[in-house]
Amino acid sequence: MTTFVCRRWFQFCSRQYNRTSNKLYKETLRSVSTKPSIPHVCIVGSGPAGFYTAQQLLKHHKTVHVDIYDKLPVPFGLVRFGVAPDHPEVKNCINQFTKTAKNDRFAFIGNVTVGKDITVKKLKKSYDAIIMCYGADDDRILGIPGENLHGVLSARSFVGWYNGLPEDRNLDVNLNCDTAVVIGHGNVAIDVCRILLTPVSILKRTDITQHSLEVLENSQIKRVYMVGRRGPLQVAFTIKEIREMTKLPGCRSVLDPHLFKNLSEQVSGLPRPRKRLTELMIKTALDTPSEAEVDAEWRVKFLRSPIEIIPSNDGKQVAGIKLRVNRLEGTGESAKAIPTDEVEEIPCGMVLRSIGYKSIPIDDSVPFDNNQGIIPNIGGRVTGMKGIYCSGWVRRGPTGVILSTMSDGFEIGKLVADDLNSADIDISNETVKGKDKVLDDLDKDGVVPVMFADWERIDELEKTRGVSIGKPREKFTTVEDMLEAAFD
Ligand SMILES: Cc1cc2nc3c(=O)[nH]c(=O)nc-3n(C[C@H](O)[C@H](O)[C@H](O)COP(=O)(O)OP(=O)(O)OC[C@H]3O[C@@H](n4cnc5c(N)ncnc54)[C@H](O)[C@@H]3O)c2cc1C
Ligand SMILES: NC(=O)c1ccc[n+]([C@@H]2O[C@H](COP(=O)([O-])OP(=O)(O)OC[C@H]3O[C@@H](n4cnc5c(N)ncnc54)[C@H](OP(=O)(O)O)[C@@H]3O)[C@@H](O)[C@H]2O)c1
Repeated sequence: MTTFVCRRWFQFCSRQYNRTSNKLYKETLRSVSTKPSIPHVCIVGSGPAGFYTAQQLLKHHKTVHVDIYDKLPVPFGLVRFGVAPDHPEVKNCINQFTKTAKNDRFAFIGNVTVGKDITVKKLKKSYDAIIMCYGADDDRILGIPGENLHGVLSARSFVGWYNGLPEDRNLDVNLNCDTAVVIGHGNVAIDVCRILLTPVSILKRTDITQHSLEVLENSQIKRVYMVGRRGPLQVAFTIKEIREMTKLPGCRSVLDPHLFKNLSEQVSGLPRPRKRLTELMIKTALDTPSEAEVDAEWRVKFLRSPIEIIPSNDGKQVAGIKLRVNRLEGTGESAKAIPTDEVEEIPCGMVLRSIGYKSIPIDDSVPFDNNQGIIPNIGGRVTGMKGIYCSGWVRRGPTGVILSTMSDGFEIGKLVADDLNSADIDISNETVKGKDKVLDDLDKDGVVPVMFADWERIDELEKTRGVSIGKPREKFTTVEDMLEAAFD
């Protein structure tokens, strides 16, 4: 088996070598005519932050060349690997990203991990400016006993599993239990609750991965708790997402009515989005269908913090979760959860931790604030590093929808263009040549870059694979399969 895989890989690499050499030759020819005064900017990460920053930079600077590097062979970050498969309209931003990618002064270079395949120090030799847009590739942990038990998963991995992120392809998801508990009251928590409770007949028509569909098809889960440490006025999820939950076929939403009975009086003074969200929660809490009318239920618990995950008798598997009951101190969004003496348990076979993503440092030469989980910056300029910028989740932390990430990208794209235009960044260095030297070095190191045209072949093949099974696409879920599709 190993010999077979190695032989195939060798054949694939040989084919690749010829293709890449041809491509490099063409790139080299092009670079000969590139004037040294043309600035070259590199962006690390091809999610919304990377693409929106590139779009604005290309708009505000008339000669700049922009290259986006991504560690995966496919672009678009969380738009592909985060956004839920049953929300296809959210992915329409890909059309704009593709327009940007077609600009003659733009290149996408996938399958290159910055910090591993190429260092920032090396990139600095080829680029006048570097913009870090690499998002948040890790997640926060609870730090409670039992968190490593079988059956405890991070929502980040679970999302990666159903969306085809290669690193989560083989996640061990066991849905042979009737109750799951999701910790957190954000939109990611709602996404995973919805995927667990949506009838497979609906999911089947989305681009959810086939391997997850097969597991979900045999799911025994009938009840999903979504547990938050604070109250109804502090939830981080939004109205559209809760409305969807209330409309799930065959599923009822249960919100503890006693918490909502007197909430109407407080609603009038709230800002409009929070007011409408709370009104919908009140309505849902006070008008719950009976158990007999449904097959499944979504139970939203407030004022509860997990303190221990209870093991099964053999000590290996999740059997339940212990929650500390909280009370609130203060009011509004900044109210704090204060623990009481009261503790309760929920028996369950699965726990999903959805308490936020986390950025990580990728290269020793770029500063990183481990407390805040961001690259330290002043208005997007990385502290103490001239010519290095950051944008998106790695700049502000792992919150914000695509629209807010777009605003951030637009701000930084314009900032870098202004710095280039005002000669705040020195672009007279004649050795700076953009991607050519980098591609050369990567080739020598045996790294196979995936350009945008290669991604378009992957894209086409994924769509074709989807047609035969009634889905908009069937994603490739391993890097090897993606590369094979790109260069077949
Ligand atoms: C599960 C989930 C669902 C979401 N759903 C929605 C939604 O429905 N609607 C909405 O508006 N917003 C949604 N969001 C929020 C939205 O996805 C984010 O606002 C946005 O993706 C952040 O963009 P970003 O570019 O900063 O990060 P990302 O999208 O994470 O992009 C970062 C990119 O950097 C790459 N990268 C990482 N490390 C390296 C490295 N070392 N070298 C090279 N490349 C690297 C990654 O591969 C990735 O492509 C969702 C978020 C999550 C987590
Ligand atoms: N459909 C969509 O538009 C969509 C879908 C998915 C994601 N997104 C966006 O993506 C961003 C990230 O979403 P997210 O859900 O990961 O993060 P989030 O919105 O920040 O929510 C995190 C949740 O985890 C809770 N939490 C944090 N630490 C905790 C701890 N130690 N113990 C218990 N609970 C804890 C938070 O409670 P506290 O408030 O008490 O801290 C909060 O309820 C958000 O901006 C979100 O809107 C959007």
